[in-house]
Amino acid sequence: MKSFGLSVRTAAFFLALFSQSVSGKDCVCELENLQRPFPMEKLNSINTAANDCTKSITSTQLTEVDVLMLGVQRRLDQLEKSVSVLENEDDGDLYGAVSLRIIELELAEVQVLLGKLKNTIKSNKQLSEITATKMQNVTKGMEELETFDVSQVVSKQRENQRMKRDLAKCEHELHATPQPPIPRPRRCPQGQLVNMNGPRTYSLTQYGTSYYYGAWGKDPKPAPGKEDMYWLVALTSSNAFANYVRHYSSLSTILVGVGPVDTTIASSNPTTNTIIGPNVVQYGDALYYGCYNTPSVCRFNISTRTITNTPLPQNSGFNNKFPFGHLDATYIYTDLDFATDESGLWVVYTTPDNFGNVILSEVLEGSPPSLGRSWRTSLHKRTATNTFMACGVLYATRFQDKQTEEIFYSFDTETREERYDLKIHLKKMQTNIQSLNYNPRDRMLYAYSDSYIVSYDAVFQ
Ligand SMILES: *[C@@H]1O[C@H](CO)[C@@H](O)[C@H](O)[C@H]1NC(C)=O
Ligand SMILES: *[C@@H]1O[C@H](CO)[C@@H](O)[C@H](O)[C@H]1NC(C)=O
Repeated sequence: MKSFGLSVRTAAFFLALFSQSVSGKDCVCELENLQRPFPMEKLNSINTAANDCTKSITSTQLTEVDVLMLGVQRRLDQLEKSVSVLENEDDGDLYGAVSLRIIELELAEVQVLLGKLKNTIKSNKQLSEITATKMQNVTKGMEELETFDVSQVVSKQRENQRMKRDLAKCEHELHATPQPPIPRPRRCPQGQLVNMNGPRTYSLTQYGTSYYYGAWGKDPKPAPGKEDMYWLVALTSSNAFANYVRHYSSLSTILVGVGPVDTTIASSNPTTNTIIGPNVVQYGDALYYGCYNTPSVCRFNISTRTITNTPLPQNSGFNNKFPFGHLDATYIYTDLDFATDESGLWVVYTTPDNFGNVILSEVLEGSPPSLGRSWRTSLHKRTATNTFMACGVLYATRFQDKQTEEIFYSFDTETREERYDLKIHLKKMQTNIQSLNYNPRDRMLYAYSDSYIVSYDAVFQ
């Protein structure tokens, strides 16, 4: 059995010379350092160099490459599909010509993306070469400094760490006999939400940093031919209102910001039945959102450009009465929050008679839309920063710190089980998240965060 105690040899660094004066009156103790003096300045300069290295490669640059790679990958998939369509359809006639034109356009998009990717990689490569040289320098310096470690504190520590790791690994293997999973009713084939990976994509929109509030995503029940489309709504007036929805043909086009198509809800902003608040969703080729200045659910039919609405229960909060928040700040005009999941469409809101605690209602698609079943929860709306639905379970987030948003709460509509102890973390790229929505088709969570559009992979058990 090895001992894990840290052994620090208390070597005699100093030679003590005692001398007594002849008179016997003074006692003098002279200390003479036999060691070379420790080069503190050198340690400091290495420290600075190491910090510089870390700073020069930021995560943003890495993410940039990721996003572009993803864009190229998606476009290539699309291109492949189109080519096979052309192969099947080509009768040497009009069909073939049209398909060919589409492929040409796609090819052009891929080329644009590849160009961007090439430039990004080139600049990152230069950066990493410089950084590598610096890192070598830092390593060399550290090795030199280690020769000052006569008492071998560092090397012993390292040895200890290694042994601790071995021990932990050994213990882990000992306990690795799999625990039988706690049986849970499986309402959703994919099981329970356990994690959010990502960000998978992270990008500014075409608007740059002009609009801090908004939402984006992919219609989980798209109209035929619109399966690859992405929608984007930015609150273009007072961080509160919008009067049009923007569509992009694919993920890469929304990330790069090319070729949008705008569909106008009303010619002025705001006006009756235009959008208030960021938590909108698109479902079944229609946009669902809080109606301007009324406690109602609005639906904008994208193909017919017509609006229908349905009122919320009496006294429901609107016009910033019951927004989401954290500490003493609130996310303005977030009285209503729309959500999509495997079972359809939902709206989150609250009323004074539920003490400002979240109420969840189904939204039924009929004409006009209407509210279905409702659930009253004990979650105070203002203590949450946002909510989303997945597999019939309502999830709420809170602000943990600038880098992290925590999914801390869940309410299961089937069992009415409420939990406040979830600890699923969302890694943020910006401080605030203004909207969150889950798409059951690609199982991604779409977030709008201080002008940036971000997505995460939902991981189920
Ligand atoms: C390496 O370190 C030396 C001194 O420690 C310094 O003069 C030199 O500029 C460093 N080189 C780089 C590439 O940082
Ligand atoms: C939009 O309008 C069309 C034409 O009336 C209709 O077929 C479709 O169901 C409507 N969509 C929604 C979501 O109501």
